[in-house]
Amino acid sequence: MAYKVGYFIGSLSSTSVNRELSKALIRLAPDDLEFTEIPIRDLPLYSPDFDANYPPEALALKEAIHRSQAVLFVTPEYNRSIPGALKNAIDWASRPWGQNSFDHIPAAVIGASIGQIGTALAQQSLRAVLTFCNARQMTAPEAYIEYTRQLFPGDGEVTDEPMKTFLATFMAEFRDHIVRVLTVLPRQSH
Ligand code: FNR
Repeated sequence: MAYKVGYFIGSLSSTSVNRELSKALIRLAPDDLEFTEIPIRDLPLYSPDFDANYPPEALALKEAIHRSQAVLFVTPEYNRSIPGALKNAIDWASRPWGQNSFDHIPAAVIGASIGQIGTALAQQSLRAVLTFCNARQMTAPEAYIEYTRQLFPGDGEVTDEPMKTFLATFMAEFRDHIVRVLTVLPRQSH
């Protein structure tokens, strides 16, 4: 049986290094994980005024999460925190009140930065938000990736063997986390 993983790229950049990282993660993931990107680019800015009548982009977002058995966040760090576009998507998905799409969903967080702390602070912010949203987060291993073009030359390739092993282990642990959570809290995808 394959597990459906919806993944968020926290960057809207056409040259996103986090998108590169996501390609590597998908390549190195266990075979029984099936990945679909959950796009955030076209969402308007969230307002409670929409709660009675969500726009199609926001309905599509909630539906995509609902179809997923787990979610993976691959995000940059903006000004030591979560990029606004990603936070906006999470706010949409968490509402209307009582219809939080992240409730009990298995989740993992990872990110790449050109800076040395490799998105550590963005991930801490994101983890706090996901805790409030009641997602079941994988707490270890953590992964703070310092991106270089040499390490990730493109198309999901990773040139360094220890990094490759580290990312493969991260994804294998995420897979085990998903199975553990779904054993206790089954989640039907459709
Ligand atoms: C950054 N960057 C950055 N890097 C970091 O390590 N910590 C930070 O707080 C920030 N802050 C920040 C703010 C803004 C507005 C931008 C545009 C960039 C640099 C960031 O790591 C770099 O641009 C990455 O390439 C962003 O990831 P994507 O968009 O390429 O996936």
